[in-house]
Amino acid sequence: MKIMIVGSGGREHALAWSIKKSSLCDELFCLPGNGGTAELAKNMAIGSEEINNIVSFAKNNRIDLAVIGPEAPLVLGLSDALQEKGVKVFGPNKLAAQMEGSKSFAKGIMFKYGVPTGAADTFESYEQALHYVKEQAFPLVIKADGLAAGKGVVIVNTITEAEEILSDCFLDQKFGPAGNKVLIEEFLSGPEVSLLCFVDGKNYLPMTPAQDHKAIYDGDKGPNTGGMGCYSPVPLLADSVYQEIIETVVEPTIWGLQGEEIDYQGVLYFGIMLTENGPKVLEFNARFGDPETQVVLPRLNTDIVELMLATANRELGAASIGWKKEVCISVVLASGGYPGDYKTGIEISGTSEASKQENVLVFHAGTKLEAGKVLTAGGRVLNVTALADDFTKAREKAYQAIKLINFDGMYYRQDIGQRAVQQQIKV
Ligand code: AMP
Ligand code: GLY
Repeated sequence: MKIMIVGSGGREHALAWSIKKSSLCDELFCLPGNGGTAELAKNMAIGSEEINNIVSFAKNNRIDLAVIGPEAPLVLGLSDALQEKGVKVFGPNKLAAQMEGSKSFAKGIMFKYGVPTGAADTFESYEQALHYVKEQAFPLVIKADGLAAGKGVVIVNTITEAEEILSDCFLDQKFGPAGNKVLIEEFLSGPEVSLLCFVDGKNYLPMTPAQDHKAIYDGDKGPNTGGMGCYSPVPLLADSVYQEIIETVVEPTIWGLQGEEIDYQGVLYFGIMLTENGPKVLEFNARFGDPETQVVLPRLNTDIVELMLATANRELGAASIGWKKEVCISVVLASGGYPGDYKTGIEISGTSEASKQENVLVFHAGTKLEAGKVLTAGGRVLNVTALADDFTKAREKAYQAIKLINFDGMYYRQDIGQRAVQQQIKV
């Protein structure tokens, strides 16, 4: 098969690595890919939101399967555009992608079908939102309705903070059209778990759970990022709670999608908080998570292309999925200054030495290859990933491999997976 992956992050490198192992894959393209995918696939200089160019490329090159990584092209309707031209796609259509593209759309489905989630109201004007906020107890969570690259969710503790965020959304249009509508949500607390499921419109197949570390500093301090590291499985998640998530969250969501005649095909990501009152959905993503994918796929024991084809062909009911016993952790190496301003174009050394270590994988996120050199090209630069028998060993392996890598300003959290080690001991 000729397969193409749309996207350029660590998730797409992990997808490329996994797809390349499949005996079904003869030729692999990444649009546009990064410095890491360049070693596994042919990178094409086509941006992930250039819908017409992507469709032309797929047609001209007789692509057999298109795998769409990021949310933006899904929400723009890339899956629909490719399917209209007869290209088989793994990834939801424009309407289904609204599960991520509009938080009020997703809430509407959850409320209607009884999926547990925080109470929330939607507002389309600054005045209305502010009026509401003044009558609520803090903390509150304010969320831009549309896509905001992980920056559209803010926890506010005072009326002044709330005013600031609402003004960012409505008056200063800081999030563009994504902030013309906001959701004001009840504050929930508890550990978070990411559960990714293959969904073929009717059937679903859950993947192994993962947990990411969203804050920039050790101990979950500082501003949220796109994710500073991840691990899988999640020792904290007891079998009984996992089962509760399947029964109270996953199944009603899949029924709800069918009830609304939304043809959801691809990965549905459930971002779940384990609250004192049971599991509740914080968000859906219409795609593989990043960095969840970088710890989930190394543990996969089934051919990913077979799973993607079963999903796209609506045959998931007959599919099964297997996982390695080894645990996996991935540490994000970021550019100094991220998630604020940072420099790019800085030379990176040591990635090939690090990836030669046993059971270590170095997934590239924000990198590019230029004249044979690997340069930084984003905030999150590399995902150093290790598989081992337990989390203590996996952490040792990943952090040893990191010592071989260097670039100016390189920053990473020291405590990725530490929580899993502690929970493992308790278990
Ligand atoms: P989201 O993009 O909706 O997942 O939000 C990003 C992060 O914000 C989540 O992973 C949580 O850490 C936090 N968050 C979102 N919603 C809530 C909530 N209702 N209560 C507390 N924290 C939240
Ligand atoms: N790790 C969170 C996300 O992919 O949105």
